[in-house]
Amino acid sequence: MRDDGILPALLDQQVQGMSLARAFYTDPDRYQDDLNLIWYRDWVFAASVAELAKPGAYVTLQLGAYPVVIVRGTDGEIRAFHNVCRHRGQRLCSKTSGQTSKLVCPYHQWTYETDGRLLWARDMGPDFDAAKHGLKSVHCASAAGMVFICLAEVAPDFAPVKAAADRYAAPHRPEDLKVAYQSRITENGNWKLVLENNRECYHCAGSHPSLCRTFNDDPDLVGADDSLSSPAGAAHVNRCEEAGLPSRYVISPEENWRLVRIPFVGDAVSYTMDGKAAAPLLPGMPFANAGSLLFFHYPNTWNHYLSDHVLNFRVLPVSPTQTEVVTTWLVDRDTVEGRDYDLKRLTEVWLATNDEDRRVVEENQAGINSPAYEPGPYSQKQESGVIQFINWYLATMRRGVSGPSRMAAE
Ligand code: FES
Ligand SMILES: [Fe+2]
Repeated sequence: MRDDGILPALLDQQVQGMSLARAFYTDPDRYQDDLNLIWYRDWVFAASVAELAKPGAYVTLQLGAYPVVIVRGTDGEIRAFHNVCRHRGQRLCSKTSGQTSKLVCPYHQWTYETDGRLLWARDMGPDFDAAKHGLKSVHCASAAGMVFICLAEVAPDFAPVKAAADRYAAPHRPEDLKVAYQSRITENGNWKLVLENNRECYHCAGSHPSLCRTFNDDPDLVGADDSLSSPAGAAHVNRCEEAGLPSRYVISPEENWRLVRIPFVGDAVSYTMDGKAAAPLLPGMPFANAGSLLFFHYPNTWNHYLSDHVLNFRVLPVSPTQTEVVTTWLVDRDTVEGRDYDLKRLTEVWLATNDEDRRVVEENQAGINSPAYEPGPYSQKQESGVIQFINWYLATMRRGVSGPSRMAAE
């Protein structure tokens, strides 16, 4: 790992409640620090379980320098591997997703079982040991119908988040969902600007006319940290809990994940232009007016579990000033497009919202690129969620520079 020695001093200079120094959003060395100390160490959301519905289904992603493939084996298990052939290193799967019975390298056709074992390699001689040339594993686990991976040699404990997220999401039956639609955009902004923008609704009234029809941006009701401490917020949580929907605000001790079920505006039940449902009620839900179960997991995902559909969001860094955002809309697998739901109606609010967010993130990056930029103060009332994210980021980076390395082989 390259170390220019600047990071500790930059971390020391950060002032609580202020946005980050310019280097954190622009400098290639700081971007590499983010990869080394966060993205190569923590659990990262990779794909919705519904994307890997059948044995042989696979999804690929590029996590920093590491191409990774996630595949459902013929035994039904979902596993992740480095997407690198053990012969001469060809990338095995180049498509973002697909369906295959074996993983066959396109270069010289070394052929791997979906559990990573090397099955066949032509003309490698009598001394060649196929057992020593299986694909390298990547840690892989699922929670709330979402597959997470971790590149570290020793992964952080995933059990607490799995227990909580599985319990909160269970009424939405994530294992019975199918992908209705997926969008993939690249935003010209640092990944932290994408997360920061997501963690506040200070910008919503000015940017999101369609989302604001249903999403509650009133910090006096929901709380900018989504804690629902207001009487109306508490009443929503109590009503849902009494109906068997886990809803109370819960946050991990490290503050890297949290769950809460927030109410919509008025009697809205979904993120649609008229607030009415976009798809049939999910079979495990007791009623439509359940608001949205929010599931955040740093560094790269926020999610909405509604009574009629589920939205998974995946953020991946591409460069210091580029970030990929993949959004997946999930509905009950027994529903039929055109009969039970209309795709435009299902997707239009968040397609518009994502594009509106892309624009503000890109303009934010454009301003920060200026040498005239200096860190500015967050609003305690409106941006406490951003302050929490930045505090998590700084604490994680400080731990990283002072702690032992847990990195995968570089
Ligand atoms: S590099 Fe994969 S078979 Fe040769
Ligand atoms: Fe937004």
